[in-house]
This record gives sequence, C-alpha cells and structure tokens, in this order.
Amino acid sequence: MTEQRIPLAGVIGSPIAHSKSPQIHTHWLKTHGIQGYYIPMDVGSDDLETVIRSLPKAGFVGVNITVPHKEKILEIADLVTDRATLIGAANTLIFRKDGKIHADNTDGVGFIRNLQQNALGWSPKSGPAAVLGAGGAARAVISALLETGVPEIFLANRTRVRADALKTEFGKRIVVIDWVQAGNILEEAAMVVNTTSLGMLGKPPLRVPLDGLRPGTLVTDLVYAPLKTRLLAEAEKMGCVTVDGLGMLLHQAVPAFERWFGVRPEVDTATRAAALR
Ligand code: ATR
Repeated sequence: MTEQRIPLAGVIGSPIAHSKSPQIHTHWLKTHGIQGYYIPMDVGSDDLETVIRSLPKAGFVGVNITVPHKEKILEIADLVTDRATLIGAANTLIFRKDGKIHADNTDGVGFIRNLQQNALGWSPKSGPAAVLGAGGAARAVISALLETGVPEIFLANRTRVRADALKTEFGKRIVVIDWVQAGNILEEAAMVVNTTSLGMLGKPPLRVPLDGLRPGTLVTDLVYAPLKTRLLAEAEKMGCVTVDGLGMLLHQAVPAFERWFGVRPEVDTATRAAALR
C-alpha cells in the first residue's frame, strides 16, 4: 500500500438513491482540490458488517451510515463516542489506521451549528424548546439541546410512550405533553422544532395548530423536502425566525469530511446549491 492511495468515502443505507450526501461531499472534494471520491452504497442489513469490514482494505477512510442501519452500526463499531451512545445511533464511521472502526453521531452538532449560522443571536439558553416527535431524529436534537444548555424541553409525540421513554432516559428537563395538546406549548417556547416526518413530500401534513406562535420565536423543521414546509411558511407569516432543515444536513457532514480528508469545509451558498442540484 502506498501513501498516495486515493481516499474513498461514501454513504451506506437502503434505499440510498435519494441521499444528498454524495453531492455535498463531492462539491467539497472539488472545492478543496482533493483527489477522492464519495460513493452511495445500497447495502442490506445481512451484508452490513461484511461490507464495512472490507471497505478499509479498498481504500475507504470512512463512511456515513443512514436509514435503516444507524442503530445497528453501534454493535459493529469497535469504538463509539459518548454522543453516539447517548443518541443510540451513529451517522459517521471513521476507519482508523490501527484497523479500528470508530462510530460517531454528528446530527446533534449539525442541528446546533445550523441554527447558530442561520438564526443570528439565538442561543439554546434563550428559553424552553418545544420538540415535536420522539423518533431517532428527536433523540439527536434533544441530546444536543440539553448539552448546550436549554432550560426545558416540551416534548409531544403521537405515540406518547415514546416521549415518556425519552423523559426517563434524558431526565427532568423534559416535560411530556399529549400530542393533541402540542399547539398549547408553542406560546411558551423560545424555539419550536419539528422532528417528525410530517410535512415531507409524500407524507401527511403537520396539523398542529400554530396560532399560539409568538413573533420572534425560532421555528425550525428537520424536513427539507420541500425546503419551505407549511410549518415554516406559516411561522414566517406570523413573524417568527425560521430556519430550514437543509442546513442541518450540510452541517452534520462537516465533521465527517474534516476527519476523513483533513480539511474543514465551509457551509456556504455554493454548498447549498450543490445539495439541491
Ligand atoms: P426518525 O429517525 O426520522 O426520527 P422515526 O424514528 O421513524 O424516524 O420517527 C418518526 C417520527 O415521526 C415519530 O415521532 C413519529 O411518531 P410516532 O412515534 O407516533 O410514530 C412521527 N410521525 C410519523 N408519522 C406521523 C403521523 N402520521 N402523525 C404523527 N406523528 C408521526
């Protein structure tokens, strides 16, 4: 093996054709003049470990992991960061020179950095957050908000037991609210986050009543197709500060690219345009 080997990275999931990660990383590889490739790979659960163990031998420096493997990958990795353990899922693998597979989760930092970049002056400490949804995406958002000092999180999910389970796990700063009451928590919230799949193209709309939203409240949606969801459009009309979900996708990719290729990329308008191509 020579030092000049072309570095490879990619994303593993199933299905994978919809992933925007190849456009994002390929854009950064070009921008930084790095001779490398980022490849989408459709791999089923039964083959996951075999494929991952062989990738370093083919010149891969790491991969992203997406649906449906984000949880299962924790059992395969040799080392798991504290934040990935807390979230219960990983989205980034680093293949270390000593042969060990290191699993991390950058979704939470991606969520926070997107807001820091696009909602100027916002801080998690500004006040309580209202989080809609209690699935995998909510776990990343909640752990990041708690870590960065949010005073309280009102959590509403259609299936209440999932929200109760998150409260048991994440502690007393979480206040569980019935899904049908979700509209009533918006007034007290400094920020509102939709982590459900509602509002996504092909999915039902988010029907939570929004009349409690106050002007100036930060409203963000993890859904980025469409970019401007009904939640964001309504919130904008009501004078809220709105941030779309594409930025989280771009920002979660930054630490991975940096670890694999040794350069910290910028999330700028050209990166957004590349993701939307
Ligand atoms: P992800 O990893 O993207 O969060 P997930 O774990 O499947 O995916 O979670 C999807 C979230 O969207 C959940 O909060 C889910 O609510 P349930 O826990 O009740 O399933 C929410 N969701 C999906 N479809 C929904 C619907 N029709 N109405 C309300 N919530 C819905």
